[in-house]
Order: sequence, then C-alpha cells, then structure tokens
Amino acid sequence: MDGRAGRGPAMGGVLDRIHHADCAGFMRDRLPDDSIDLSFWSPPYFVGKSYEKCLDFAGWQDLIRRVVAEHARVLKPGCFMTVNIGDILCFPDPEMPRIQADCSGSKRAAVTRSDALRARRENPGATRRELAKILGCSEQTVQRRLEHNNVRGGKYSVGTRVMPTGWMVAGWAEEAGLHLYDKRIWHKDPAWMSSRWHSLSYRAVDEHEHVLVFWKPGITRHDRDRLSPSEWSEWGSRGVWEIPSVRRNRRHEAEFPEELARRVIRLLSPEKAVVLDPFVGTGTTSCVARREGRRWIGIDSDAGCVEIARERTGACGP
Ligand SMILES: C[S@@+](CC[C@H](N)C(=O)[O-])C[C@H]1O[C@@H](n2cnc3c(N)ncnc32)[C@H](O)[C@@H]1O
Repeated sequence: MDGRAGRGPAMGGVLDRIHHADCAGFMRDRLPDDSIDLSFWSPPYFVGKSYEKCLDFAGWQDLIRRVVAEHARVLKPGCFMTVNIGDILCFPDPEMPRIQADCSGSKRAAVTRSDALRARRENPGATRRELAKILGCSEQTVQRRLEHNNVRGGKYSVGTRVMPTGWMVAGWAEEAGLHLYDKRIWHKDPAWMSSRWHSLSYRAVDEHEHVLVFWKPGITRHDRDRLSPSEWSEWGSRGVWEIPSVRRNRRHEAEFPEELARRVIRLLSPEKAVVLDPFVGTGTTSCVARREGRRWIGIDSDAGCVEIARERTGACGP
C-alpha cells in the first residue's frame, strides 16, 4: 500500500471525482494497473430494483464477473476488494420443485395429502367423487390434496430458491486471482418485503447481508494503530456488525449506511489511500472516504445518482 501506480493510463482527472460511466469499461480504460488501495462496493443484487431492470441474470453475472476481473488488475498487491452483497432469497426458478405446504392451521377438512394418496393407492381406478366418499370429505379437498393446490407461492407461480450470490462472487474472484480472505455479517433489520415472507413459509426474513473481503496476493501492511483499542474490540475484530439500514430513503432504493463504509475504510486502508467504489450510487463510500482523509473514485451509470453523489461528496468532509 505505497501509493504508486503501475502500467496503464495515468490517474490524471480521475481522483476525487464521481464519474458517470459503466464501471467495467471505465476501470478498463481509465484506471492504471496497481493503482487502488481499497475498493468497497455494493453491486445491483438482481432483486428487482429499478436500476437493475435492464439486466437479465446472465447479464448481471457477466457484469459482476468483468468488474471483479478488472479489480485483479487495478488493485495494488496486498490490498483488498470488499463487497457488500445479500443473497437472493426468492430467486424464481422454473426447475425448482414447488414446496407443497400441508397447511394444517387453515385446513377445514382433516384429510391430509398422505390420506388422499393412500386412498388412491388402495382404490386404484376410483374417481375423485368415490375417493371423496371414502375419505369423508369434498371432491375439492381431494383435488387440493392430490393436485398440490396448496403450493407455496400459489398454484401458477414459478418456484423460488435461495441464490447465494456472495459465493458466486467468490468463485469469480478466485478465477481472477483474488482470494476470499475475511468476511463479516452485516446484521441490519428485518426487510419484510424483500424476503416475501408469508404464512406458508418456514423461510427466514431477510435481516443480514455479507461483507466479503478479497485479497490480492502481495505484502499487506498490518497497522494495529489504525483503530483505537475500543474500535478493535467493539467491531474491528468482530464477525457480526450491528448497523441499522438506511430506512427513510428518498435518495436511493439501496443506499448502504455510512457506518458500514466507515468501518471498512478505517479497517482496511491507511490515510491517503485511494478508495474506489465502482457502483457508488449516492456516493456513500466516496463521501466517507473523503471524511476519513482518503482519496476517492466513485463511478455510477445512473445520471441521477451521479448528480446526488457529486453534491454529497462536495458538501461533506473537511
Ligand atoms: C446497490 S446500489 C449502490 C448504492 C450505494 N452503495 C449507496 O450507498 O448509495 C448499485 C448501484 O450500481 C449502479 N450500477 C448498475 N450498473 C452499473 C454499471 N454497469 N456501472 C456503474 N454503475 C452501475 C446503479 O445505478 C446503483 O446506483
């Protein structure tokens, strides 16, 4: 982490600015090799936010893979790429067998799916009406039990699975030569809507995200004085970070809290380090980097975000 930049374009006009661009192209064209001390970013998560609408899943994967690959080039050896990402808890997948919820709480008839299946096995060729008579229930109940009408998410909707996107990023990083060195859990607060929790589900609500720290091989300077003793014991050495999410969010659908960026920046970079956020959104990382005495580079493809981030970085800090 010694402040030198290697081959590639010079850094002139790049530092301490918010750039309106596609980040993969910008990094390729404008950032020299070995020029970045720390990057901290939260990409689109592919969970239906408005700024993700232009991407399908393959396009999303391709974008993140390219951005990770550029990091392997632009990071200084011994430095870190830090990614905040949440798993997709309800990823629609037509191949996913649908959960068949035997919802005893709301059932009027006591007949279960196993009862109906047994009756059909023991009476091969029986009609639905005959099965209903045998079981002592309505035909509709027989149909519901046999045809899986009580299916989680509705009869006609596609099944959903958990998609552990953080591990996908880890795979692309490894491919590019960056190694998963550390991880923290950001424990925020229950996000009821994004978990799509409802009464037929045993699924957990969405209340944490990952902070994954990838290392580019090289000499890393460990500086114990970077944090105060209380910072080390309260969060520097802790695996779970309790930080409320940004709730009243008129600026952006997915802004992360300044405290998250502050911890990552203070923990993983020295003063005057160059901190990159290729998906800078409203400028949180850059704003905090500036306040913490670091140099900064922010990139976003959305003109509205760029405007907010420019205003925010200009207005904050010393
Ligand atoms: C999860 S948000 C980041 C929010 C940010 N951390 C904050 O605190 O405001 C992801 C951002 O990535 C931006 N984005 C999506 N695709 C991009 C691309 N190809 N290049 C640059 N930015 C992109 C979106 O416009 C969005 O602002």
